[in-house]
Amino acid sequence: MTDIQQAVNRLIPRRTPPASRGTGTAPANIALCKYWGKRNQELKLPLTGSLSISLADLGTTTTLEPADTDRFVLNGTEQDPASTACQRLFSFVDLFREPGTPLLVTSTNTIPMAAGLASSASGFAALVLALNDLYRWNLDLRSLSILARLGSGSAARSLEHGFVEWLPGEAEDGQDSYAERLDITWPGFRVGILTLSESEKPVGSTEGMKRTRETSRLYASWPDEVAHALPRIRQAVFDQDFTVLGATAEQNALSMHATMIASWPPILYWQPETVHTLHQVHALRRRGVEVYATLDAGPNVKLLFLQDQEEALTTAFPGLRVVSPFRPHSI
Ligand code: PMV
Repeated sequence: MTDIQQAVNRLIPRRTPPASRGTGTAPANIALCKYWGKRNQELKLPLTGSLSISLADLGTTTTLEPADTDRFVLNGTEQDPASTACQRLFSFVDLFREPGTPLLVTSTNTIPMAAGLASSASGFAALVLALNDLYRWNLDLRSLSILARLGSGSAARSLEHGFVEWLPGEAEDGQDSYAERLDITWPGFRVGILTLSESEKPVGSTEGMKRTRETSRLYASWPDEVAHALPRIRQAVFDQDFTVLGATAEQNALSMHATMIASWPPILYWQPETVHTLHQVHALRRRGVEVYATLDAGPNVKLLFLQDQEEALTTAFPGLRVVSPFRPHSI
């Protein structure tokens, strides 16, 4: 039996028949201290901890229903069964079901896909919640976070709203590698989503992490960077110290990209618009607008700021989608 199947069986020892329907809904998240590098590929165990903010209404809702054949309908469009998305989805679902029990999976993403925001985090978190509902497991959030992690690492952080920390854990089977919510609300906190480039990602995060670990000598410094940034960001969240939080998060994201750029072949996600936006952010800061940038495995830039700068930023960046993580949300 594979390690991943064993990890699943530890939490779900018995297969139960499905109900007539199961649903789940989960927010996307943006890491303020990034996850970049696995200590175990199959179990998606990270080398370091990470800390994120969930994106309120931006996320995924998924419904599961027993069907005659496996089908995946995303945002109203039937997906090709041979597509990577379908294969990844149903091989994950196979870990939980009796053989020969096909499912119709219907998902709606409210994440602006064109912004290159990872939908795998909210996608796998919503799927795990829908499975929990369909098979009536009644699992706690910790177990659900572990299961979501097995689908996509960052999905471990998408089970809850607000600030969420993923504890890397030490156990070989990953039972202590899960995420939990930090008990704090920060109503004025804002995340801005910019759509800069719709170009396809040249390298996915799984391959990107692997290549960085194997070929970038700068990667040796990454655990040190996280050891510095993570406690600082956590403390800044509790102190509501936006200056420390923003500066540490931006430096952490740029450090992650530095390790990628120094890989071979190089992983350069940045497009001209990315560099232009970073310069704009820095120019705004010099003019007293407190805004910081963060970037993931793609060319797009996300902005971090407080409510009082919202007008200045929507003026500087027309088309900026502003997310208020602590406003009441529907998902
Ligand atoms: O969970 P994955 O494999 O999509 O990796 C996510 C990696 C980053 O988005 C770059 C960083 C993070 O912590 O979300």
